[in-house]
Amino acid sequence: MEKQERFTIDKEGHLFFGGADCVQLAEQYGTPLFVYDEEAIRAMMRVYRDTLLEEYAGNGAVLYSVKAFPCMALCSMAKQEGLGLEVSSGGELYTAIKAGVSAKTISFVGNNKSKDEIAYALDCGVGCVVVDAYTEIETIDDMAKKRGIVQDIMLRINPVPDTVTSSLSSDSKFGFSVADGTAKMMTAFALGKDNVSLIGYHYHIGSQIKNRKAFLSAAEVCMKFIAEMKYKNDFETEYLNLGGGFPIWYTDEDERITLEGYRERIRELLQVVKDKCAAYRLNGPYLMLEPGRSLVGEAGITLYRVGSIKNIPGVRKYVCVDGGMTDNPRYALYGAKYDALLANRANEKNTEVVTLAGKSSDNADVIACNVSLPKAETGDILAVFSTGAYHYSMATNYGRTPLPAAILVKEGKAEIIVKRQSYEDVVRCDVLPDSLK
Ligand SMILES: Cc1ncc(COP(=O)(O)O)c(C=O)c1O
Repeated sequence: MEKQERFTIDKEGHLFFGGADCVQLAEQYGTPLFVYDEEAIRAMMRVYRDTLLEEYAGNGAVLYSVKAFPCMALCSMAKQEGLGLEVSSGGELYTAIKAGVSAKTISFVGNNKSKDEIAYALDCGVGCVVVDAYTEIETIDDMAKKRGIVQDIMLRINPVPDTVTSSLSSDSKFGFSVADGTAKMMTAFALGKDNVSLIGYHYHIGSQIKNRKAFLSAAEVCMKFIAEMKYKNDFETEYLNLGGGFPIWYTDEDERITLEGYRERIRELLQVVKDKCAAYRLNGPYLMLEPGRSLVGEAGITLYRVGSIKNIPGVRKYVCVDGGMTDNPRYALYGAKYDALLANRANEKNTEVVTLAGKSSDNADVIACNVSLPKAETGDILAVFSTGAYHYSMATNYGRTPLPAAILVKEGKAEIIVKRQSYEDVVRCDVLPDSLK
């Protein structure tokens, strides 16, 4: 099923997503509600998995970047589809283990992992720790020695190209710079340790990267570095992780990339690796791709109920919904843009341009500006598109707002995958000392 076909509208003007009536979903499960189309997620997972299999002779793996939408159901779905996982915190690792994912298929990434997190990862038996700090190598080496193990690690590098043809930057807290020699130095340092085994390199150039060339330039820099390590430093890279970062559609300012479009992007990236392996006479490393946003972003929408509406003549009209920056802080964080429609009147023409605001006591509590809608009324159901990635994971309890539920829909049937928080959940960690009772 192609991506746009996921959305249909019935005779009554109800929006259907993943075969389910969004108006009924809102009634049944309440709002705000994260709704995920299972088939859409699986289709994207297969695009990555199969393209890597076909174009790189199966010598690799796709890791789902759990931070995009961290929950047990998604970890389990990734496992079913033959994907491994990339986790970036102890909490994500715990979620994955609780979901029954084998630790061996998990990579643990992060620029400032705590000692507790590293100890937990080693005790779980994670396949690989992606190291992004000098001190981390010493910590892992010490902890592995105490446990009588040798831990596989990769080094996170920052492959900023010499020629600036991309949006990459050397000013980043992530990765050891290839350009200034730190990556080379860290390689020698890691190779000198007995209880870590350096198996290769990892990089991730950023997220929602629209410049296709940026991916190719980074791969070129990385492959040149790998060749240098082989011929001048006698280190052969066995594993290479190219990260995630492919963009998705949010509004018509973004390209609508089809499944074939993603296949093409993966293919052209793999082609750089293959060409450079041939040019530098390298054994092709085992390749990992680590997507998050492109797997789940467009496969998720958020349903809200419209509450108050405030028109300020000559200024703007606010349409306020029962969620906001607590379930979607992306406008407040980086001015993100969204498209939306009224799920109960999806066949009506747009007649006005409004600002979608939330219910929190904060002026930054906006979901999107300049959204075209039919004249909204209190009680309408609003569907905001492309909210599957970095929404639930960035949601907060600001204002003691309970986190919304998330459901998975498939062929019109829905299942809860994350329960809505209750007020009791919100106060669960509060402690009232005797002196304050
Ligand atoms: C290390 C790492 N890998 C993978 C990803 C996933 O990136 P994306 O969601 O853009 O595919 C991220 C997210 O920024 C990341 O930090």
